[in-house]
Amino acid sequence: MKKDSVLKTFLVAAALCVFCSILVSTSAVMLKPLQEANRKNDIKKNLLMACKLLDDPNISSEQLEKIYSERVTAKVVNIETGEYDSRDAESFDAVKAAKAPATSIQIPSSKDIARIKRRGKFVKIFLVDHPTSGKLIVLPAHGKGLWSTLWGFLAIGEDLKTIRGFGFYQHGETPGLGGEVDNLAWKKSWEGKQALDDALNPIVKVIKGRAKSDSTTEIDGLSGATLTSKGVSNLIHYWLGEHGFGAYLANLKRTGL
Ligand SMILES: Cc1cc2nc3c(=O)[nH]c(=O)nc-3n(C[C@H](O)[C@H](O)[C@H](O)COP(=O)(O)O)c2cc1C
Repeated sequence: MKKDSVLKTFLVAAALCVFCSILVSTSAVMLKPLQEANRKNDIKKNLLMACKLLDDPNISSEQLEKIYSERVTAKVVNIETGEYDSRDAESFDAVKAAKAPATSIQIPSSKDIARIKRRGKFVKIFLVDHPTSGKLIVLPAHGKGLWSTLWGFLAIGEDLKTIRGFGFYQHGETPGLGGEVDNLAWKKSWEGKQALDDALNPIVKVIKGRAKSDSTTEIDGLSGATLTSKGVSNLIHYWLGEHGFGAYLANLKRTGL
């Protein structure tokens, strides 16, 4: 075959394509466990940050594991009954369970204020033993903002009312607008606010504009991001409400944390 023939050019290009695709797919397969471990660590960091057990996200995996295992107990909750389930919480993948038809339910549109369409029948929650704030319960919450689904945690105190921390670990809102959900001052403004009233109705609310200075339930709206702000308010109301953790919270009120 001639060195500069058309056939040879095509053969070399095809061989290069095959070689590169093998290289890319091998690295993707080999890096998958590492990516998965990093993703789990990132969620744990955000959980610890939401309940004020961690300030600096740049800690080693060993330190992270140490704080997590000393302070956090994960449990699986049956959302309908509000009771704990016996399945192993650490290995339970709540996100997967929320998608699979057998382990999830369709949310009636009239109740789907978080706009997530389906939710798991079983959800993972976290009981936290905080050195200064005492016992906390950390509830996962997710729902639609403007562009994306926001995934986060809400930490509530033993009184089942007071917010002790809040934060999202994943979203795709616009940086500087809806992305201000990650603003530290804004997240801090949630602390001390009342998430629920005595009858366990969700009362904390992100309003448009500035919250009244003496309000225990209002959170400042994010400027230029009314739709994300509304989404955040709605997703918190969904997960704290009767279709979310309502039954579980009612059980906790009877039995204590
Ligand atoms: C490029 C672009 C990105 C935007 N990103 C967001 C966003 O992430 N969240 C949001 O609520 N609004 C976002 N908006 C603005 C919304 O379209 C809408 O105008 C806004 O939510 C209204 O908020 P305001 O009443 O506080 O101005 C974006 C607008 C543009 C043009």
